[in-house]
Amino acid sequence: MDIQWYPGHMTKTIRMMQEAIKLVDLVIEITDARAPNAGRNPDIDRLANGKARLVVLNKADLADPEASRAWMQYYSSNGLSAVLMDARERKNFKGLEAQIANVCADKLRREKEKGMLERPVRAMVAGIPNVGKSTFINSLTGRAMAKTGNKPGVTRGKQWIRVGKGVELLDTPGLLWPKFEDPRVGELLAVLGTINDDILSTGELALRLISLVGEYYPEAIASRYNFEPGVAAEPLAVLEKIGEKRGCLRKGGSLDYDRAAGILLDDFRSGKLGRMTLERP
Ligand code: G4P
Repeated sequence: MDIQWYPGHMTKTIRMMQEAIKLVDLVIEITDARAPNAGRNPDIDRLANGKARLVVLNKADLADPEASRAWMQYYSSNGLSAVLMDARERKNFKGLEAQIANVCADKLRREKEKGMLERPVRAMVAGIPNVGKSTFINSLTGRAMAKTGNKPGVTRGKQWIRVGKGVELLDTPGLLWPKFEDPRVGELLAVLGTINDDILSTGELALRLISLVGEYYPEAIASRYNFEPGVAAEPLAVLEKIGEKRGCLRKGGSLDYDRAAGILLDDFRSGKLGRMTLERP
């Protein structure tokens, strides 16, 4: 996989995150509800150790509601607060401020008992690229923030944005790099479009997607492209069926696999194949 990691860069990133985390009570960790595990960097557990945590399963509008319930159950049984979210809709943030305060309630109560002054909860958003961190911050705070670019770390010149009465949010998210030790993680993030397509060719990516979708939703592809389920069993045969049904032909009449692959990937990523989750707890 073509990802460069220089030890110096990694150390610097981790140091920047550690510094930022020191300033907050709560880390709001954004992941992708369609692959919640692949969409997290497990280093966050160590980095945010001792801090309150809220896991946001974002893009829940594209995920399978039943699988989302299973994930929520999983986080709850592991003692982690979690919410399902479509961060593009500001109306979904109603009640979130109260939930944030709730996650930090113990800490604030202890401070009050010690006679400390009441103060807003300080929070930061963290996650891998493209999970919706900027969208989340913009909707939560009601203003547009600059994009940080896909460089891990936390942008300097930190500013706090007041959210309602009780919460202050760091205006730039902490950016973590995806963790590719398990090859399945790289595949999942590539089919979701979280990481660049150029790791695998469009054709290879579509074949992986066909296998993954087939695992959880065996009839979804046949139903979307109008062929009998069971007619094509192998991923390549499925891709050929899609190409046939969508008239993906090259000059001379041979099948245009890349075009068929592109159609399938677009349909999956935009939710046209249905709401799907490609990972279970
Ligand atoms: P990042 O800061 O973590 O890198 O992610 P960012 O907010 O830029 O979001 C990445 C893409 O995901 C954006 O789409 C954004 O609109 C989309 N997105 C964010 N949250 C949600 C969600 O809850 N549901 C859905 N369906 N999409 C979401 P884009 O195509 O890259 O940009 P654009 O179309 O918004 O211009």
